[in-house]
Parts: sequence; C-alpha cells; structure tokens
Amino acid sequence: MGAKGRRFALLAGLVGALLCALSASANAAGRCGNHPWCDTSLSPDVRAGLLLGALTQDEKIGLLGGDNLNGAGGGAHNHTGTSNGIPRVGLPPVYYSDGPVGPRQGSATALPIPMALAATFDPAMAFRHGDVVGNEVKDKGNDVVFAPTVNIMRTPLGGRTFEAYGEDPFLDAKLAVGWIKGAQSQGVIADVKHFAANNQEGDAGPAANQSQPGLPLGPPPIAGNRMTENSVVDERTLREIYLPQFEAAVKQGNVGTIMCSYNRLNGDYACENPHLLQDVLEREWGFKGYVIADYGAAHDTPGNLNNGLDFEPWPGIAMGPTLVNAALVTGQSNMSVVDAHVRRILRTLFAYGFFDRAAYKDDDAQIDKAAHARTAQQIEQSAVTLLENRGALPLKAKKLRSVAVIGKDANAFITGGGSGNVTPFSFITPLQAIKKRVGPGVQVSYDDGSNAARAASVARSADVAVVFAGDYETEGSDRYCLTLECPNTNGDQDAMIEQVAAANPNTVVVLETGGPVLTPWRDKVRGLLEAWYPGESGGTAIARVLFGDVDPGGRLPATFPRAEGDIPTAGDPNKYPGVAEQVQYKEGVLVGYRWYDKNGITPAFPFGYGLSYTRFEYSRIRLKHGKVTFTVKNVGKRRGIEVPQLYLGLPSPGPGIVQPPRQLKGFRKLSLRPGKSKRVTFTITRRDLSYWNTATNGWAVARGCYRVMVARSSRNVVRRTTLAEGGGRCRR
Ligand code: BGC
Repeated sequence: MGAKGRRFALLAGLVGALLCALSASANAAGRCGNHPWCDTSLSPDVRAGLLLGALTQDEKIGLLGGDNLNGAGGGAHNHTGTSNGIPRVGLPPVYYSDGPVGPRQGSATALPIPMALAATFDPAMAFRHGDVVGNEVKDKGNDVVFAPTVNIMRTPLGGRTFEAYGEDPFLDAKLAVGWIKGAQSQGVIADVKHFAANNQEGDAGPAANQSQPGLPLGPPPIAGNRMTENSVVDERTLREIYLPQFEAAVKQGNVGTIMCSYNRLNGDYACENPHLLQDVLEREWGFKGYVIADYGAAHDTPGNLNNGLDFEPWPGIAMGPTLVNAALVTGQSNMSVVDAHVRRILRTLFAYGFFDRAAYKDDDAQIDKAAHARTAQQIEQSAVTLLENRGALPLKAKKLRSVAVIGKDANAFITGGGSGNVTPFSFITPLQAIKKRVGPGVQVSYDDGSNAARAASVARSADVAVVFAGDYETEGSDRYCLTLECPNTNGDQDAMIEQVAAANPNTVVVLETGGPVLTPWRDKVRGLLEAWYPGESGGTAIARVLFGDVDPGGRLPATFPRAEGDIPTAGDPNKYPGVAEQVQYKEGVLVGYRWYDKNGITPAFPFGYGLSYTRFEYSRIRLKHGKVTFTVKNVGKRRGIEVPQLYLGLPSPGPGIVQPPRQLKGFRKLSLRPGKSKRVTFTITRRDLSYWNTATNGWAVARGCYRVMVARSSRNVVRRTTLAEGGGRCRR
C-alpha cells in the first residue's frame, strides 16, 4: 500500500472509530452494546438478520422455547413466562405477564373486566385500560403482556366470557385496537389471544358449581374440553365472526405478537394450523410479529415448526431443544425454518425497541396506584349499564332516611378466575361506598342475603333496598347453566331477590356478573343495573351511578336471554358442548343478536341496550355518499350519555347464503349537557358492506338493497333508510 493508500486506510479507520463511538453513544440508554445489530439507523429486519447471523445453531434453537416452568403459577416477582436470552451476544431475557385485567404477578390495579370495558362502547376507554395494564406490566419488569382476549362470546356459558369483549366482532375489533395501542404506548408488546375459535372451556357438568374464587381454574370439563375439542367452523363464519378482531389487531393495532389457542380448528390444532397461521395471518394479513403458543397448546414439533408457531413460552417442550433437534435430525423440519422463527422473534424485539432501552425494573413502587384506581373508577362508571328503571333511580340521598344493602357481593371484591384473575392493590366495596356517599344522616343496614327471609325482613322497613347479586366465571370450565348460582346448590340469589322485592316495592338490583345471566325477577324490581365485575374502585363507581353523580354509561355488549333455551348454542349437543370433541358451529354467522333477530326471539335485554337518566332525540338524518349523518340532542334535565349505533342489513348474495337482519357497523359515545346537541357521522366502508365470498375466497359486495339503520340498540331502530349497490334497486 502506498502513502496515499495508508492515509486512506487511516482516515477510514478514524471515521469507523468515530461512527462506532457515535453509535455507542446513541445506544447509551439501551443495552444493546456495540454490535453491528445495535445500529439504530438500520431497519428491524436488517438488525434481526445481523444478530441471527451471529448465533450458533444451539442458540437459535434455544430461543424457540421458554425457560421458566414456575411462571404459570403467578405470584409476586414471578413472571408468567421467561425466555433467558443469550448473554454471549448481549440478548437480554424477555419477560412475559398475563393479562387482560391486569398483571398476574403479585398485586396490581384490578381494572373492570374486559366485558365491562366492552360495555363502555368506547375505544378511548379501551386505550386507557390498556395503558394502565401496560404500565403495570412494565413496572413489574415485563416486556410482553398476554392480552387482550378477543374471542367472541359464542355462548354465554363460556367460562372466559368475562375476559373478552362480548358477542359482536365490530365492537370487539374497535376495543381490541384501542387496548393494544394503549398497552403498546407504554413500551410493552401486546399479545392478542386466543387465535382462533377458542370459544368454550368445556362442560364440567354440575361440578361446575364447585368453581370458586381462590382455585386457579374451574373443575376439568367432561365434554368439549378446550384442550382437545375441534371447532368445526365454515370459512365465511370464520372470516365474518371469529377473525375480524384479530385482523384489526394486526392491521390497525400493530400488535407485536399473537397467541395461538388450545383447540383444534377444522381438524388441526391452532398452533400447527397452516391455514390460520400461514395462509391468513402471515400471507393475507402480512403479520410480521411472532406467534406464541398458549400454555401447553403446542403438541407436535414438526407441525408447530413447519406451520407457523414461533415460540412456546411454557413448558418449552414441543419447541424445546430435544424435540426440535429430533425433528431436524429426522428431516421433518430444517434449519431454514428455525431461522425464520428466530428472525421473527428478533425482528419484533428490534421493532418494538426492546434492545434500545434499559431493562424494565420489577418494582411496584414505580406504579401510580392512586391514578390507576381513578382510571379504574372512570372506566367502571362508563360501563355500568342501566337495564330497568321504574322511577327508582337515581336515588336521592337528601330524601332518604334508610337504605338496606343486601347480598354478599355488596361486601366483597369479586372478579373472574384463571389467568385473567387479578389480586387488587386495594379495593372499596359497594357497601363501604354507599355508606360514604349517603353520610351519617342516613341509616344503612346490611344483610348478606344468605337467608332470604332474614334479608326480606331487613329490606322491609328501609326506604330503598339495594340488592347485590353476582355469578362466578373462571377459565378452565364453562358455567353449567345461566342462573346466578348454577346449579343452585350453594344458595339461590334469584329466590332471595324475589323475596326482598316482595317485602320492599322499592327494590333495586345491582348485578355483578361476568356476562349475561337469567333475570327471572326483572319485572318485579324498580331498578336494575349491570355493573359487571367492577374492578377495585367498583364500589365508588356503582355508588356514584346509583345516586346520579354520573349517568350510567354502559350499553350491553352481549344479549341477555329470557330463557336458557334461547341461546344460539342451546338444544343441540353437536353445537355445544360438542359430541366426541367435535363442536359444530352450525349457527354459522348467526351469533349473538344476529341469532335472536333472525329467529324472532325476544331477549330479556338486547345487544347495544342501556338506559340513561336523561332523554335524547334524534333528528335530521341524512344518507349521502356513503355517510350517515344525524343530530342527537339531550332533551332532558341533566347531563347524560348516549350511544348512537349504526346497523346494516346486507342483501343475501345468493340462495342459501343467510344474512343477519342487522350487523353493527358504527357506534359513538356521547356525553351531552341538557339542551346540547351533537351532529354525528358514520362512514360506511366497502368492508362494512362486504360478505366473505367462499367461491372467490375474498370479500365481496353483493348487488342489491342495503338497509341502513340508526339505532339506540339492536332492537331500537330510530330511523331506517336504504342504500343500493352494484346497480341494485331499493323498492320504495
Ligand atoms: C391461558 C392464557 C394465559 C396462559 C398463561 C393459559 O391457560 O389460556 O390466556 O395467558 O395460561 O397464564
């Protein structure tokens, strides 16, 4: 090399050193170090490729399975899942936590359950819910949160009904996207679950009544077990009902990971299902994150490896080194498949900033518990749903002398069981909150309701009786029936409510349930509120709604049936719980209110329904260029909440293709002062008008006349109009 060459080499060396120093300082806040893949100016794909290239075969295989067997048990400082990372290359451990109601790692802020969140009909509330959970998951040292749960409520018997967003895919999708954005805004990665058609836990028979708080799961199912059942679902139903919320999570929510479910779907287990994981998720939706197996949901190493599972967090066996190496040695899979999985995991970690920040500390002291308790209260206020009001509500504290509070749930914190269970930092019960709200001048008596006659006598002399009643739902087994206690071997809250209502005509019932229940006494009470499992600040929120400090904000995200025989899965064991572990989704797209509407079944309370303490009027409804615009005015005397909804009735594209009479395609949450009005616009998209065409394997808009309905619930349409598509006509 000549002098010129040496000078050039020296210069290049200096520039290199400078760049290295600059990139090191750019990464100073992170923990990546000075490796080539730590250059934050490179794309996540390039960075993942560089790191992948630096790994040995054993290191790569080691990244496919989790490393901590104890995580599933929960407990303080115990992450639900751990992947140890690779110290040699500076790949830090990745920590995972449940879940949809809050972290399952010691105590946490117990938020209102997702079903309550769905009742808010408010994606902004979903963002705040996700934001709180994401923040606490982070402050407990985790990088990924196993949530949200977005499985559709196919049957209200489902043990995890409380953990998800009800029966409608449009509502579900909007809330899921809001939640994911909230959680990921905190710098953790969300994990939308359980993909897909995981709509039951299984029928445990009458033993289901042994489900109780404190046990990790419900008793083992005897039929239709989620671990083995095969959900037999036609493609159109999958696309229109069971997949849209996952699709929205990927395309609109930018979710980082997705959890494949326990069940089989049309024959293949979800975590080895090429149609689900590869055709739909990867190729059609363009998902670039990674697929995580539910706990124990990976069964067949070659099937998992070759068909799209990237990571098995627990117990790390099917995707553990022994079985993965066996699959490689026997030629059932190969290293390029392994590489593709590792690349996805690493790419996601780079894309979501995991390497370029410090490790999160596991320290509850970082959590702003008071602020989170306030958020929990606001979400719950927005979720409490007023179902009946015969002049009893709101209660007027100044005019009351005595209140009888009845029911054990008035004096407890209640929520669902399983991985969606959260131990609250602290809580306020409805009884405490009512006492606080009325002050010392009003006498508050309490009875736990275990003896109906005694409860009735406590209620008799009070100005008002407020009865609290709840169910118990848990992961692991479904409810055996839809009454509050089921079967009624431990108590009978329905009979107790009847007796209290007979003793005191001014009886108000507050339900704290995870989803729909039967309400046989609903015509005999003067008021009925559904408060769901209300979270740790639920007592305060419920008291504020009862006394009219705020309007009840909730609308039903699921139909409340009049009788158990009315639910879409009733009367045919092939539909539910399945025969020989085959669960036939025979009702097709007629899920939830779509079923009741099509079959002319009157529900106790319909989807989308909920009352306000004030009154609203709708006027000036226009449909132009695919936009529906109208005015909503508060014509009552107090501030109130209204949730206008848009439903479409699609024409049938051909013989045998059933269309539900109404499908939710828009909603808006409004809070208006008396006399105030708001102009609302819903934009109807092509997708809103589309059905899944199985012949072309794509979305299609049928030619014909579309019914457009502005409504206050699925059964209360305030204005109808029509829209012609594809040269179709609408008869006047
Ligand atoms: C549940 C998942 C959960 C996992 C870890 C499983 O039983 O189905 O939702 O994330 O456990 O707790």
